[in-house]
Amino acid sequence: MDINKLCALAIDARKMSYAPYSYYAVGAALLSKSGKVFTGCNIENSAFSPSVCAERTAFFKAISEGETEFERIAIAAGNVNSEKLNADVTPCGVCRQVMREFCKDDFEIICVADTESFKKYSLKELLPNGFSGSNLK
Ligand code: THU
Repeated sequence: MDINKLCALAIDARKMSYAPYSYYAVGAALLSKSGKVFTGCNIENSAFSPSVCAERTAFFKAISEGETEFERIAIAAGNVNSEKLNADVTPCGVCRQVMREFCKDDFEIICVADTESFKKYSLKELLPNGFSGSNLK
């Protein structure tokens, strides 16, 4: 799938965000190697720590449906009351660690700046020398 189409799906997924505490709505669209797309949004909680990011929602939906290999993820974020996106969006450390579990170094992380532009990183760039199962020996 074309990167711009994946970005549009991430922007669309923001609409489902439940963010009554931070007012920061995040959407993600994860493309599997088999060509399926899994979307996700952030889901907050009044007790704060049960909250989950959009990226992990997308990953856990995919894993729970049997997908284990991934190509790229697009992420879009901004205030809940605005369609203007935060051009500096970047995945949190916990989400990077979840990506590390299921993705290779060349997994692409697409940070959506607006409807026409994005920044592209590899997982290796955003989580260099990360911890993984191979360290457990
Ligand atoms: N959030 C995400 O969904 N993804 C990220 O990569 C960073 C943060 C969410 C968590 C919380 O609901 C809100 O954004 C503010 O941190």
